[in-house]
Amino acid sequence: MERVRLSSLLDAGIETPFFIYSAAQLAADWQAYAEAVAGLDAIVGYAVKANSNPALLRRLAGFGAGAVVVSDYELRLALESGFAPQQMLMHGNGKRPRDLEAALRAGILLSVDSEFDLEQIISRATALGVTARLLLRVNPDIDPQVHPYISTGLLDSKFGFAEGAVERLRPRLQKLSSVEVVGLHCHLGSTLKSVQPLRDAARLLAVLVNELRRDGHPIQILDMGGGLGIDYSRGRDKIPTPDEVTEAVRPVLDELGLQLFLEPGRSLVARAGALIGRVLGVKDNGRKHFVVTDASMAQLIRPCLYGAFHSIELLEESVAGPQLAFDVVGPICESSDFLGQGRLLPTPRPGDGVIIYDAGAYGFAMSSRYNLHLGCAEYLVDGDSLRRVRTAETFDDLSRHFSDEPISVGTRQPSARPAARD
Ligand SMILES: Cc1ncc(COP(=O)(O)O)c(C=O)c1O
Repeated sequence: MERVRLSSLLDAGIETPFFIYSAAQLAADWQAYAEAVAGLDAIVGYAVKANSNPALLRRLAGFGAGAVVVSDYELRLALESGFAPQQMLMHGNGKRPRDLEAALRAGILLSVDSEFDLEQIISRATALGVTARLLLRVNPDIDPQVHPYISTGLLDSKFGFAEGAVERLRPRLQKLSSVEVVGLHCHLGSTLKSVQPLRDAARLLAVLVNELRRDGHPIQILDMGGGLGIDYSRGRDKIPTPDEVTEAVRPVLDELGLQLFLEPGRSLVARAGALIGRVLGVKDNGRKHFVVTDASMAQLIRPCLYGAFHSIELLEESVAGPQLAFDVVGPICESSDFLGQGRLLPTPRPGDGVIIYDAGAYGFAMSSRYNLHLGCAEYLVDGDSLRRVRTAETFDDLSRHFSDEPISVGTRQPSARPAARD
């Protein structure tokens, strides 16, 4: 990775598995967005959910990125990493009171997902005496053609207002205080392989922009979300560029004089990261060959959750044996614990290094402690320099949270709410 030989980390006895990130790849993927919005009134808000390691956040903030958050802690980490509140947005279909409180106090943009969301924003903003700047999240019922778990643009998804719902809301929106509707937001889904759905969505939102402007709302922002995929096959798939994204929505921006807000996550950090593991052993059961590594679904859940493909290689091929088709699996006690199936690889030896590519997004961010394989370390490479940017979780970190304290909830009379069991 850059000028660091990855197997040297294993030779140095560094514990596996670990995630490792390339500063140069991060900068290059940011540059692609910076060039795509050059000359446009635009904010490129990094979706912190993809990877919240502060070392990456600080670099992205330093490049001039904004930030898109879902929770109070993502917001806090983003602010502490140097993102400017004016370039930040909180979205979410279920904002908890603590998330909303933090967003309103920080004065960042809020994306409204539903009528109950709107009501809680109004009441909280009124209580705090602030005016919340809102984007209405619209669900345009457009199929982004991605895995159903990461598809958010169809009406069967839990996100956003249907078009008709915005229409019905218009009279109410005109009478609101403590909030200002300044834009529209949509996010169709993740791992997009075409910009056509974005083009269609922008067209649809343009109609709503005109209607809301006629109602007197100062609509300035068109937030087209994130979702741009990457080529996980490393060569087979043709994925649009950030440039093609902005070109797809530029006619609407120019026509209506709107500021563009984009929310990339994956396409900014996925390629920069890799998951590194050690081979524990090789086996076959007469039907399949397996490479068992210490890296697993506890670090990278995407293969089993979405059936996602990640390229896998040995760190050093020179020493390996004959090529065979292997399932690359982890040590977690689940048959869903695989990182790749039927992969043609040279037969490794125990201790050899394995690299799972493009694991910078939705890797560590979605990792678990299954079988008490605790959070692993993260490293950052910059040229020939190597930094640890997160230490691995220890048993002490885990056990610090174990407790056995008596909790008294008082003996107040049960509330008037009907008993569930009836
Ligand atoms: C509202 C919203 N914005 C942005 C993103 C980032 O998406 P991606 O990482 O695919 O760019 C997501 C993720 O799904 C999202 O739900």
